[in-house]
Amino acid sequence: MTISEDNPRLTELRTWQARAQEGGGPQRVEQQHAKGKLTARERIAALLDFGSFQELQPFTLAHPEDMYAIPGDGVVTGYGTIDGRAVCVYAQDFTVYGGSVSLAHARKITQVQELALRNGVPIIGLLDSGGARIQEGVAALQGYGEIFRQNALASGVIPQISVMLGPCAGGASYSPALTDFIIMADQTSLMYITGPDVVKSVTKEEIDHQGLGVAPIHTSVSGVAHFLATDEDNALATTRRLLSYLPSNNVEDAPALPPTDDPRRTAPALNTLVPEAPNEPYDMRTVIHSVMDTDSFFEVQADWAQNALVGFARLGGKAVGVVAQQPLMMAGAIDINASDKISRFVRFCDAFNLPLITFADSPGFLPGVGQEHGGIIRHGAKIIYAYVEATVPQISVVTRKGYGGAYIVMGSKSLGADLHFGWPSAEMAVMGPDAAVNVVNRRELEAAADPDAARAQLIDEYRTRYANPYYSAERGILDNVIEPAQTRPILINALRTLREQVRHVPPKKHGVMPA
Ligand code: HXC
Repeated sequence: MTISEDNPRLTELRTWQARAQEGGGPQRVEQQHAKGKLTARERIAALLDFGSFQELQPFTLAHPEDMYAIPGDGVVTGYGTIDGRAVCVYAQDFTVYGGSVSLAHARKITQVQELALRNGVPIIGLLDSGGARIQEGVAALQGYGEIFRQNALASGVIPQISVMLGPCAGGASYSPALTDFIIMADQTSLMYITGPDVVKSVTKEEIDHQGLGVAPIHTSVSGVAHFLATDEDNALATTRRLLSYLPSNNVEDAPALPPTDDPRRTAPALNTLVPEAPNEPYDMRTVIHSVMDTDSFFEVQADWAQNALVGFARLGGKAVGVVAQQPLMMAGAIDINASDKISRFVRFCDAFNLPLITFADSPGFLPGVGQEHGGIIRHGAKIIYAYVEATVPQISVVTRKGYGGAYIVMGSKSLGADLHFGWPSAEMAVMGPDAAVNVVNRRELEAAADPDAARAQLIDEYRTRYANPYYSAERGILDNVIEPAQTRPILINALRTLREQVRHVPPKKHGVMPA
C-alpha cells in the first residue's frame, strides 16, 4: 500500500513528529531565542549540509508512564553530512528540563556515540545543559558515566568535538573535557563543575556564573576550551572548518585539497626575520604563515599558553599539524601549560595520521619555584612521550635557540624526527652562552682583573663555537642547514617522501589524553 496524505497512519506519524518537534513548548523556545540561542534542531540544521539530517529516537520518553513526559527527552540525536562527509551529532535541548541528562537522555547520546565509533565517523555534541537531571538521582549519574565511557573508548579512534552553546554544568562540562576539541560561543556559553552557589557554600568565594566559567576564561585562563567563537553561527562555522583538517577516523589519511598555493613558492622575507640580537623577539606566526599554504593555518588554543603555538595547516594541499614556540611570549620558554598544550596536540595528530611539522626556538624550560612545585618535570615529560610514540611523519626545523631539554623535546632527531633541519640562525647547546659561562668559567671569572671584559670574551668564544648550526651539522644531528626562504619547498618535498610511511606503519590506537 502506498502511504498517501490521507492515510491515517501517516496522520498519526505526523502527530507524533509534531509532539517531538515542540520540545519544551513555544514559550520556552521563545525564551531560548530571547537569550540569543537557537533550539537544538535549528542548530543541527545550521551545522549540517542542507537536508542531510536523519534523526534517531525522537519519541524516547524518560518515564513512559509519565503522561507529561516530553518526547525526545531533551536531546536530538542522529547523523548527516558536513561538506559531504558523514558525521554523527547530538544537540541538547535546553527548553526541555534545561537540557539536563536523565538516563534515557544519556542513552540516546551513547547510542549515537556507539554508532559513530563502530562506523568510523566523527561525532559532534552541541551542548546546552544543566548537567545531571537532579530528580533522577543516581540514574542520571549512571547515564553520565556511560557517556564518559564512550568518550574514552572513542578517544584516538574518531574525532570528537564539543560545541558549548549554553550553560554547561557538572557532567555537561566533563564529557566535553574527554573529547578532542571544545568550541565555546562567547556570551552564551558557560562551563563549570559546580555553580556559584556551591562554590560559595564550600569555599566562601563570591563569584557569579560569568566570573566562574564564561568562554574567554576557558580559552585563555584555564585552557579547557580550544576555540572562542563570537556567537553560535561562528561556533558552528568553526566546527565545520576544524573537521576539514581531520580524517573521519584513525585508519584514514588526513584529507587533502587540490593545492592552490605554488609548492615551489619561496619566502625571501624569512631570510631576514630572525634578529641578530639573541634576545630580540620575532613572530613565529610569520614563519608558519609564510611556509604553509596561504591562509591555511588554523590555530588551536590561540589565547592560552601563548608561548607555544599549535594548529592545523596545509602544505601542498595536505593537512598537517604544526607545533612551534612563540619567541614573542616568554621568549618561547616551555612552561607547564605549554607542555600540556604541545603534548596533547602531538598525540592528537599522531592518532589521526596528521604529519607533524615542528618549528623550534626555545631558551629552555621556564625556571622558577612555581613551575618546579607545579610539576614542570612531570608535564614536560609528556612532550617526550608524545613525540617518541608518534608514528606519523615528523619534520622539525630549528629557527634559532635550541637549548637544553627544550631542544630535545621539540621533535629533535634524538626523539625520532624523520628529518631535522636548522636555519643558519640555529644554535643548539646545553644552555645559552650567559648561563654556560657562569657555570663552566666561574673560577676564571672570579680571578679575572676585569671580570666584565673576561665574561664578554668567554661569551663570544662560546657563541663562535656552539651558537651556530654547523656544530650540529658536522655531527650528523641536523640533516641539513637550509635557507629560511626555501623552507616551504623543502618541507613539501620532504613530506612527499615521508607520507609513504603512513601506509606502512600500522595505525596505533591510543587515546588523545597524554599519559
Ligand atoms: C533538572 C534542571 C537542571 C538539572 C536546570 N534545570 N538544571 N532540571 N536537573 N540539573 C531546569 C530548571 O529547573 C528550569 O526548569 C529549567 O531547567 C531552566 O533552568 P533555569 O535555572 O531557569 O535556567 P538558567 O537561569 O539559564 O540557569 C541555567 C543553569 C541552572 C545555570 C544551568 O539551571 C543551574 O544551575 N542548574 C543546576 C546545575 C547543576 O548543579 N547541575 C548538576 C551538576 S552535577 P523550570 O521548569 O523551573 O523552568 C552533575 C553530575 C555529573 O552533572 C558530574 C560529573 C563530574
